[in-house]
Amino acid sequence: MGSNTFVIVGTQWGDEGKGKIIDVLSPKADYVVRFQGGNNAGHTVIVNDEKFILHLLPSGIINSAGKCIIGAGVVVDIEVLLKEIDELEKRGKKLDNLFIDERAHIIMPYHIEIDKAKEEAMGENKIGTTQRGIGPCYIDKIARNGIRIGDLLEPERFRDKLTWNVKEKNDMLTRYGKGTFDLEELYEKFMKLAEKIKFRIIDAVVEINEGIEDGKVVLFEGAQALMLDIDYGTYPYVTSSSPTSGGVTVGTGVAPTKISRILGVMKAYTTRVGEGPFPTELENEDGETLRKVGHEFGATTGRPRRCGWLDLVIGRYAVLIDGLTDIVLTKLDVLTGFEKIKVAVGYEIDGKVCHSYPGNLRKSKNLKIIYDELDGWKEDITQIKNYEDLPENCKKYVEYIEKKLKCNISMISVGPERSQNIYRYDLGDFVK
Ligand code: GDP
Ligand code: IMO
Ligand code: MG
Repeated sequence: MGSNTFVIVGTQWGDEGKGKIIDVLSPKADYVVRFQGGNNAGHTVIVNDEKFILHLLPSGIINSAGKCIIGAGVVVDIEVLLKEIDELEKRGKKLDNLFIDERAHIIMPYHIEIDKAKEEAMGENKIGTTQRGIGPCYIDKIARNGIRIGDLLEPERFRDKLTWNVKEKNDMLTRYGKGTFDLEELYEKFMKLAEKIKFRIIDAVVEINEGIEDGKVVLFEGAQALMLDIDYGTYPYVTSSSPTSGGVTVGTGVAPTKISRILGVMKAYTTRVGEGPFPTELENEDGETLRKVGHEFGATTGRPRRCGWLDLVIGRYAVLIDGLTDIVLTKLDVLTGFEKIKVAVGYEIDGKVCHSYPGNLRKSKNLKIIYDELDGWKEDITQIKNYEDLPENCKKYVEYIEKKLKCNISMISVGPERSQNIYRYDLGDFVK
């Protein structure tokens, strides 16, 4: 063993504050690596009131002098990537430390149009996707006709693949009653884009594994979260990748034996964007308060996020499936002011109590949520740095979660700024 590799994953439905945590931990990282998803992600980093929302760039790009890598498992919209690079460069960041694995798949313009057309056609059964072409791009990858970043370096091969795809996608778009794409136009466009990113294309499998061999510190940045996982999430209301810790190994080519620690980012309550089941959702004043105080509006699409209480059935599922070694509890400050705070501890389905998240949960009349209720606190906690200084009821809330989940809450975030954190247990090389 001896590797110094940390994985950061979302444990709910995304937007737990992963971007902020990556930013805080990244100064000590030699590599910050995205391993799945694409620009459906919106990771917010706030530094001295300056706000960065990152969609494809690893969140380490702001605070790390190391290499930032977009791994093989990511799907890349090159135009979005170039725009993000450009915007950051305009804000004074140097991005010569950004690289992309040659194996990463390209989100093509037809993927975006298909994503939109399919959602529209599905009507009330829609997934509520971010309409960034994520699903259709992963479909092509699994169908084995996807186009990879490395293909841009071989124009003939790129043209061959594009020819097949344009024909297939135009047929599909025509069936949806949508406009079609011109092969030559797309070819020219992508050959121009290739010129702009060529120098960033590498074999990241070799790069990262050699780094680990040399004792380098690696941070793997998850996008989305467990409940959006293609296999373990609320299927079909999920994304098309594996945002769980297991996704790191398939999405970067780093073996499971090389992973040293897995941190699950958990919001002190729950939110969800898009459609699908959400057992602890609050469609009342408390939900409104969470949305307002927590500024719960999507970082990618601006949609209002659905809000609800913390769900420990999902928490346990995350500890299990992600194999969490630590929890980072975020947005604890948002709960300040609630008289009582509820936490789901089980579901009663058709009269039967269930403590593990079921594979096929539906929004059903026969589903009852079993809650524990804890006393709230009124004091402002946003400037607190030492755990001992938190209000008693706030500490009780933290320790209650820890005990129920049998997992250390090693770090607590009490505000969006880089500095608003409380450290409880050792985080190795990352926090000194
Ligand atoms: P991500 O997708 O997991 O990176 O999370 P997002 O950036 O989409 O959403 C998290 C939001 O909460 C962002 O607006 C952050 O600036 C903000 N945030 C992160 N941590 C905290 C916290 O501890 N307290 C508060 N109040 N806001 C936070
Ligand atoms: P971060 O990394 C929250 C949701 C979408 C939709 C479903 C499928 O910021 O936590 P997709 O476009 O991926 O096919 O949409 O997944 N979704 C997210 N929700 N945070 C995200 O990312 C998300 N990425 C996708 O809203 O319900
Ligand atoms: Mg987000």
